Amino acid sequence: MINRTKSKALFETAQKLFPGGVNSPVRAFKSVGGTPLFIAKGDGCRIWDEDGNEFIDFCNSWGPLILGHNHPKIREAVIEAVCNGTSFGAPTKLENELASLILENHSYIEKIRFVSSGTEAAMSAIRLARGVTGRDKIIKFEGCYHGHVDALLVQAGSGLATYGTSSSAGVPEAYVKETVVLPLNDREAVEKAIALHKDNIACIAIEPIPANNGLLIQDIDFLRFLREICTREGIILLFDEVISGFRVGFEGAAGYYGIQPDVMAFGKIIGGGLPVGAYGSSKEVMSHVSPEGPVYQAGTLSGNPVAMAAGKAQLSECLTPGFYEALLEKTEYFKNAILDHAKAKGYTFNMFNRGSIFWLAFSDKVAIRKSSEIDADSMKYFTKLHAALLERGVYLGPSGYEVGFISAAHSMADLDIAVQAFKEALDIAFAD
Ligand SMILES: Cc1ncc(COP(=O)(O)O)c(C=O)c1O
Repeated sequence: MINRTKSKALFETAQKLFPGGVNSPVRAFKSVGGTPLFIAKGDGCRIWDEDGNEFIDFCNSWGPLILGHNHPKIREAVIEAVCNGTSFGAPTKLENELASLILENHSYIEKIRFVSSGTEAAMSAIRLARGVTGRDKIIKFEGCYHGHVDALLVQAGSGLATYGTSSSAGVPEAYVKETVVLPLNDREAVEKAIALHKDNIACIAIEPIPANNGLLIQDIDFLRFLREICTREGIILLFDEVISGFRVGFEGAAGYYGIQPDVMAFGKIIGGGLPVGAYGSSKEVMSHVSPEGPVYQAGTLSGNPVAMAAGKAQLSECLTPGFYEALLEKTEYFKNAILDHAKAKGYTFNMFNRGSIFWLAFSDKVAIRKSSEIDADSMKYFTKLHAALLERGVYLGPSGYEVGFISAAHSMADLDIAVQAFKEALDIAFAD
């Protein structure tokens, strides 16, 4: 067993300081058991915990670190920015520079507003949709996560177009009533909900590559249908690209599928590992945002210069020719090597990917498009796999519903080491 002495002591202290000992729930290792590892440092594709254990990291801070840890160009940009002061609450040149870099290379948005997290981005995008349409209700999908915004913390309703129930205490019933929750990849459910709430749907919000409840790859026809019905009904189509943005390509899922959403929300990669989110749209739609328009939205640390510098350094690297092709090639190599082993052994296991996002499914289904298609019981395999991987120096996010990420810092040699660990860990997970 890896030595967790220091992590255990730190977790004991942390439990006195924070609810559940953490500042974000999934970090607590509740679903896989055991003490969470306290990370001391990261470099390239590796992280080290406080006990000195070394891991090849496939969590990558849940997605932001597409270049891996401690990338020299990001580090230098951050240090340079910090030396000029960390925050002014006044405009800086760096905001223009990051925005220009994005807008010149992203054909799906014309104007952008920086915020400090993905949650803020999704929340603000929804307010914008309501402000533009003058309507109240929103449609979201089962298994899609859009941050911890009250109206979006709504789980699956069982029937079509039923009102959701809140999945968090503290969310007023009145907010939940404004959120219609539907199954993914189901045109009929969307049509019925729109017919039922005729002329009061402001927005359809979707992760176009749903990656928060497994990786639920949608039929492109479903996404195209959403585009068409939104256009027909005057509904704002919101692509939450907090994970997929700058990940499956510089233009995210919109570019991948060639579908123009009305509003897009970003986070994670856009900030180079610092807290940045953003939302963007056409000039016309963005003209509704304060101070140009009546939709209020503000932030003390929005467009923070240190975070802008990190985002600019990271996105500049993403624009290097062949960057995304190389990531995809590595991810498919990694996936196929693991799948070959699982198939040879006859394990009930599959692995899905979109670009450099991957997910391990303990299922023999060839496609999983809805959260209801995931067997909760299969998570027992993930728990065993996760523990066995830690023992072999591989770190995955501590939940079988979460996806993993390949970064530019993973070399083929690193992936070969990880593949060997996966083979052994799968053998343990499927033993007896
Ligand atoms: C699709 C999506 N939207 C929104 C969020 C919320 O972002 P943040 O955690 O930065 O608030 C997340 C976080 O994982 C996400 O995956």
